[in-house]
Amino acid sequence: MTTYNFSSGPAVLPRDVLLQVQQELTDWHGSGMSVMEMSHRGPEFTQIIAEAEADLRAVLGIPANYKVLFLQGGAHFQFGMIPLNLTRPGDTVDYVNTGSWSKTAIKEAQRYANVNIVASSEDRNFSYVPDEAGWQRSADARYLHYCSNETIGGVEFPFIPQSSFAGKDIPLICDMSSNILSQPLDVSHYGLIYAGAQKNIGPSGMTIAIIRDDLIGHARADVPTMLNYKTHADAGSLYNTPPSFAIYVAGLVFKWLQKNGGLEAMARHNATKAALVYDAIDNSDGFYRAPVSGAARSRMNVPFWLKDAALDADFLKGAEAAGLVQLKGHRSVGGMRASIYNAMPLEGVQALVAYMADFARRHG
Ligand SMILES: Cc1ncc(COP(=O)(O)O)c(C=O)c1O
Repeated sequence: MTTYNFSSGPAVLPRDVLLQVQQELTDWHGSGMSVMEMSHRGPEFTQIIAEAEADLRAVLGIPANYKVLFLQGGAHFQFGMIPLNLTRPGDTVDYVNTGSWSKTAIKEAQRYANVNIVASSEDRNFSYVPDEAGWQRSADARYLHYCSNETIGGVEFPFIPQSSFAGKDIPLICDMSSNILSQPLDVSHYGLIYAGAQKNIGPSGMTIAIIRDDLIGHARADVPTMLNYKTHADAGSLYNTPPSFAIYVAGLVFKWLQKNGGLEAMARHNATKAALVYDAIDNSDGFYRAPVSGAARSRMNVPFWLKDAALDADFLKGAEAAGLVQLKGHRSVGGMRASIYNAMPLEGVQALVAYMADFARRHG
């Protein structure tokens, strides 16, 4: 039986990539070494990291005036690095609050700067994206931060916020941890994009930051060397030992994306899968319900509830028996969550909706 993994992250990786890793695990390209055993300054790894960056640049169309940084510390480190690199005490920064991850980013930024919440969807349990027309932005904000896909709540921005406000260009900063590489993106709208790798990029332990050149070199004087973007930009992400194995696997994922039609093909593939799951929910006569409606429904993470929470355990048990694993929802939302990142095949989603229909028939 095939297992389909709906984890929110660390999440499913392309099977072809895993098989290639397996094949190369003990002897990368005739070097006689595993990538795990190589010096990060040797010729082999120099080639691996250079190719990974070049392939990511090609896939996303990253302009030349942006640096690609392979970092550690997860997206959580970015929550602190951003204000430490881009503000001084007392500066104002704008944040949109659309869920758990926005909130965590806000809490960290509040330690270093004056955070203005431009809009929040907390009034309706983070089930929508507030209309941009009503946002209360500050003219003197150092940047505007938002999370393009709230992994826990299943809310995805259906638009890119304006970077210009009050006649000024205010850097747009986005936590794209859970929807980067899921569709084409115009990187030039942004000052900084960051993403933990463990969803659409590769294994955990690595975070990617794509940062416009003019935002590098403004860190506070007392910021630790490792938390200064300039440290990593100047050293080509090799200031210290990088997460080398994760960079290698991510590089294979970027090649897999290129081989499979790039981000346009991913966008079609992801739209098809998401429509299947949301249709299964919406056409279940109320047996299943989704907390998010309309355009803000995430194409990556689909939370849903059963009409009777007493059936949750049975649903999960039956799903596991059918090879559909890691469907339990986040504890703060409850119910189920199907994460259907790039690497989730259509067959996995078809198996899930077939199981959902069957379960509803048996318990409806
Ligand atoms: C949107 C988003 N932001 C931030 C994080 C935190 O990432 P990390 O655990 O890599 O620090 C996550 C984790 O899943 C996430 O989904």
